[in-house]
Amino acid sequence: MDKKIYEIKKELKCFHMKTYNNLETFRIKFLGKKKGLLTILFKELNKIPINKRKTFGKIINELKKEVQKKIDIFKHKNFIKNEKIIKFDPTFPGKSIEIGSIHPLSIIINRIIDIFQKIGFIYVDGPEIEDDWHNFTALNIPLFHPSRDMQDTFFLHKTPDILLRTHTSSVQIRYMKEHNPPFRVLSIGKVYRNETISSKSNFMFHQTEGFYIDKKVSFSDLKQTIHYLINSLFGEEKIRFRPSYFPFTEPSAEVDIYCNREWLEIMGCGMIDPKVLENVNIDSEMYSGFAFGLGIERLSLMIYKIKDIRNYFENDIRFLKQFKSEF
Ligand code: PHE
Repeated sequence: MDKKIYEIKKELKCFHMKTYNNLETFRIKFLGKKKGLLTILFKELNKIPINKRKTFGKIINELKKEVQKKIDIFKHKNFIKNEKIIKFDPTFPGKSIEIGSIHPLSIIINRIIDIFQKIGFIYVDGPEIEDDWHNFTALNIPLFHPSRDMQDTFFLHKTPDILLRTHTSSVQIRYMKEHNPPFRVLSIGKVYRNETISSKSNFMFHQTEGFYIDKKVSFSDLKQTIHYLINSLFGEEKIRFRPSYFPFTEPSAEVDIYCNREWLEIMGCGMIDPKVLENVNIDSEMYSGFAFGLGIERLSLMIYKIKDIRNYFENDIRFLKQFKSEF
């Protein structure tokens, strides 16, 4: 027994894992259930005189612990998980981390913010959950007025009426209530309308709201601003202003852009109705202003030449990764 113990100790001392094909052969050699060197020694303990059993038993146990320790250290050093060795090959290329891309709508949103910041517009945010006053009443859309039907609303609560904003014009009210003119403000965000989903419409879409209030702001300021936006986005592009109606602007217009031999409506705009200014305590004799609301999805269909807005919301990486933020 002495001799065997000596040999095992020697073997462990000169131990180098490379001598073994893998960790498992090493383990089997010492601790294997049938022929493991230490296992055999344990069995042989029965055959030796009782008075020596205790001392040898202790020595063999120590050796067993040593073997186990070597196994553990080796595993730790070589990142072995689930007993499989992951070999480290320094010539292998490193694992690359995939960089995501910016969502196509965000690219356009950032671009629009940039365009307007250049002409002194500041950016503000507004809540998507609104009350009736900010979304309708203060914008000169009284209760039971037929123009409420223009925007089919998702109500979250009735009396008091809490709803998902149907347009970003509510931000006009929020901002004007808290600030004194003059100001030039831009806001972009999600709006919600109970509409059937199709290639051109969705129950949720993004709008840009812009408004400018000062002394002597006129319709020509509005026209110039819209021309500036369209030219910055598309280069020279034909647009037309078509007379329209919105309860909160007077006069009002819709802007169409000439694209693929047809006129496409992309925004509503107009001079802010004096009544709206008075609702937020702005002197309508002294101040005037314009406002516009622009649908981001519609615009981006034209910029990217995409036929179906549902593509934007399906989260298909093959679609999304095609867009580069250089624009
Ligand atoms: N809020 C209008 C809409 O959603 C758009 C608009 C904004 C029109 C500002 C005029 C002025 O249809």
